[in-house]
Amino acid sequence: MSNTAEASAPSPPADLKLAQLLESTRLERCPFPIPSSWFFVDFSGNLKVGEVRNIQLFDQEWVLFRGESGKVGMSDPYCPHLGAHLGHGGKVCGDHIRCPFHHWEYDAEGWCKQVPYGKNAPAITKLRPILRTLPVQERYGQIWAWFHPKMEPPSWELPHIPCMEDEGWVGDQRGTWQASTAIQEIVENSVDIAHLKFLHGAAGVPPIQVEFDRHMQRFNLGGGYIVGETWGAGSVGTVTFTQEGVSATLFSYTQPITRELTRMNMSFRHKAYPEGSRELYIARKLIDHMQHEAEGEQGAGFESVDMVIWNNKKYRHKPLLCDGDGPIFQFREWFRQFYVAEPDVMAKI
Ligand code: FES
Ligand SMILES: [Fe+2]
Repeated sequence: MSNTAEASAPSPPADLKLAQLLESTRLERCPFPIPSSWFFVDFSGNLKVGEVRNIQLFDQEWVLFRGESGKVGMSDPYCPHLGAHLGHGGKVCGDHIRCPFHHWEYDAEGWCKQVPYGKNAPAITKLRPILRTLPVQERYGQIWAWFHPKMEPPSWELPHIPCMEDEGWVGDQRGTWQASTAIQEIVENSVDIAHLKFLHGAAGVPPIQVEFDRHMQRFNLGGGYIVGETWGAGSVGTVTFTQEGVSATLFSYTQPITRELTRMNMSFRHKAYPEGSRELYIARKLIDHMQHEAEGEQGAGFESVDMVIWNNKKYRHKPLLCDGDGPIFQFREWFRQFYVAEPDVMAKI
């Protein structure tokens, strides 16, 4: 199902109570669980063959390892045998991770492949994986993991990203920023058109067209000047700026570190143009502009202004909106598909 929304008068939630607006002390800052999606883990070049590393992601610790064939595994840290931490003394053996305590070995899918003593491994080890692992893929020169709280398999594929995967694109500028908020709050920025004027210094509130289509969101700001695509829970995205026929693209890969800490990562890319050409000048200017994310060159960059809002705000799940606001309710309804949670949790988001 897809739909297109112009910024229009939103309908306030039917059960909005004034008391709820007045009693902000009861609001949680981030009532959201970690959403299900493909998420960036690290750059492929950062994980060498045979390396074992502990990482924090999705509100818990994980053990990341690269087997001798190059295959990457990402597992729960605690061994199903007696609970040793695989990331403290664990070793890569072939494509397995070997527990330091009694040398049980697990493959990247979590199957126990070796118990090097005793005559019979527990019967369950023949029937199913016993170590929790995440599906992992390498794309765009990066390691990606599929997170689902109930361990369901991926429901969509990582998309083709031309600026990262096609010939003729260049640019090695990257940025990383951490915000003390949940990923949904950050992605909601893309449809919050009014803040572009008042927080970023845009000349006016730009018109927006948004399309929500299954796990995808597309938006067009300012009549084609900025076109964005998002896949999944805001975890894979591109934003393309076009000026005088020259485009530059920001590829974003955002990570939920905990429920209240999100790391935004971006790569800035443009088509290869000859040195000294007008096109190259414009492309570089667009990238400069993106990194400061302002409508006017005098405007403020998101790292200074959005951060102050994100790091301190509380989530209002029944906000009072006006007709100049972007399609925030539609965005939230779309984003709910990525949560797997009990009704009492869903009622707050
Ligand atoms: S605790 Fe891991 S093999 Fe015993
Ligand atoms: Fe912003």
